[in-house]
This record gives sequence, C-alpha cells and structure tokens, in this order.
Amino acid sequence: MSLIKLLRKKTTNALFTTPSHGGKFFIYHKFRQFYKSDISETDTHNPTEALFKAEEAASKIYGTNYTYFLTNGSSSGIIASVLACVKSGDKVLLHEDAHPSHLNAVKLAGAVPVFYKLPLNSDWGVYDKNSVENLEPYLKNNEIKAVIITSPTYEGFVSDIKSIKELCEKYGAYLITDEAHGALYPFSERLPQSAVKISDFTIQSLHKTAGGLNPTALLHSNCNINPSEALKMINTTSPSYPLLATIEANINFLNSQKGKRKIEELIDNILALRKSCSNIVFGGDDLTKILIKSGSLDGNELSERLFEFGIEDERSNESSVLLLTGIGTDLKKIERLKKVLKKCNKL
Ligand SMILES: Cc1ncc(COP(=O)(O)O)c(C=O)c1O
Repeated sequence: MSLIKLLRKKTTNALFTTPSHGGKFFIYHKFRQFYKSDISETDTHNPTEALFKAEEAASKIYGTNYTYFLTNGSSSGIIASVLACVKSGDKVLLHEDAHPSHLNAVKLAGAVPVFYKLPLNSDWGVYDKNSVENLEPYLKNNEIKAVIITSPTYEGFVSDIKSIKELCEKYGAYLITDEAHGALYPFSERLPQSAVKISDFTIQSLHKTAGGLNPTALLHSNCNINPSEALKMINTTSPSYPLLATIEANINFLNSQKGKRKIEELIDNILALRKSCSNIVFGGDDLTKILIKSGSLDGNELSERLFEFGIEDERSNESSVLLLTGIGTDLKKIERLKKVLKKCNKL
C-alpha cells in the first residue's frame, strides 16, 4: 500500500500510543488535515513497510541502487553520504565556500577536510562550474576518500559529472554530488543531465525547484554502499509521515505526463521570455535559473529596479541578477517579469 493511501486509513481502535494529539485534537486548527495524517511509525497499518516500498519504487523511477526520502533537507543527505563512505581520519575534498552542510559532514565523520578552489566566472561574478582540470591536482597530491561537488551551482552552472566521476574512480575516491538545485533534471531532456545515475551519491532538494514542501529532499546512492545506517545515525526515530507521503506524491507527479508537461511548459515560457527580451543577456547552463544582466545597469542596480516594479530576485552582485523558478512558476509570473525587464532597460 502506498504511503498516501495508508494515511487515508481510519481505525476504530482506541489508540493509547504516540503521537499525543491522537489525530483529533489539533492545537493549530488550520493544519487540521496535517494532524489527522500525523501517525506514529508503530501504527498498525505498518507505515515503515509502506515507506520502504515507496522508496523502492522511487529508486526504480530514478534508476538508482537506493533512493531515500529525506525530511531534513539536502543538508541531511550530504551528511549521511559522507558518514556512509568515509571513516575517521580519511580525507574529504570539498569546496572552500560550499554549503555549510559539506564541512559539517566532514567534521561529524571525524574526517580531514582538504579544500579546493573554484575559478570565478568574471562575466557573471559567480563561481564557475567544476572540472577534471580543477580537481585533479588535489587528488594527485592527497589520498582523498571522497569528493563533494555542487552541480548545478546556485546560479545554474553545471559540471561534467561523467568525467569527474571517471577522475574519482582513477584515484579511488567516492563522488558525492550536491544536486540540491537540480531536482527537475531527471524529468526533462531540455535540462542538464542529472548526476543521479552517475555519481556515487546524489542529493536533491524537492522543495527548491520541484514543488516539494520545506524541507523535503532525496538521497540517491548508485554505488555498493547503502546509506541507510548513516541516515539512522542522524534521523529521528519518529519520522513525519505526512511529509514522507508528500515526497511519494511529488515523485509520482514529476514522473507523470502531467508533471512532465508542467516542466516543459516552464521551459517553453522561459525560452519565450529570453526571445522577447533582446536587451537582456541570459547566462548559465540551466534555463530554469534566470541569470541575467543588462547593458545599461550593473547587477545590483538591475536588482533594485526590479524590486521597484515588484519583482524580488534570489541574489544579485555587481555583474548579474539571479531569479529562481520552479515547477510552480506559472506563465502569469513569467509574463510579469517580461514586462518589467522591458521597462527596466528603458529607464
Ligand atoms: C548548494 C546547496 N546545497 C545544499 C543545500 C541544503 O539544502 P536543504 O535546505 O534542502 O537542506 C542548499 C540550501 O540552500 C544549497 O544551496
């Protein structure tokens, strides 16, 4: 039985079990449905078994060895990956300015961090993608057990995961890919190639681009290591079944015709935006991350202009502005951005 169906099941028994709200009493009435679905892992309908089956089905969809549902974000998936493949004293290669979970993972494993630098992309004022040329000197000079890379970057620069994986194999290191911002990639040919079938471990946030609730995410393993023991070390023993059920529904949606159509519509809308704003330069490898600059304004000025017209961006710097989109970004919103971008350049 799927997790979604299981949460609809009712019992006539009197429950002398956790959780203490008993599914009826709700402190915050707006979330009444959430309380109703908030069952315990010891529920007689065996949600643990349903979760196991849902994760197995997900691993088939993604074509991985293992896929785990995370209710503590990609941060927890990154930590679990490192705990799964390195032991105390091993060296882990990571970016010096990576998301904090990368270094936290290394610290928790008692491993030794070795930091790599990334070239700056001066056109856009952001870090550039990673490469074999960038990483090999570090692997040559250190006995590295695992390498952590971020692809795509926040701004949508995507590394060649295949060649980086081959490099890691050459030096006997595991590859962990932080694909937190790339959860839509496995579901469209027009988006960059996902790492899920290539990297040893790939972590994706469903909440960032794929329509998931905060902080739902996925950990995929494609090597012979099952990260479930590592996950047990950092996860609660009382998981949130409502959140887990949304992950099951989220993956089923992304993999459905309806979900795929929605992703393609988003891409079509962004391509149309690009075409009609000839005054704006678009960058990056991922269409859904709108990285822009204008000929007449610097990045921060463009950001301020956008804000005056009611458009909030994710980030800006002296060179560029980043606007994030996802499966929930509809045509109306893109059209509004289009109008404002055209206005901005005339001022
Ligand atoms: C590159 C990158 N990796 C990992 C994370 C952590 O993701 P989560 O918020 O799902 O834990 C973030 C969050 O901002 C991120 O930007």
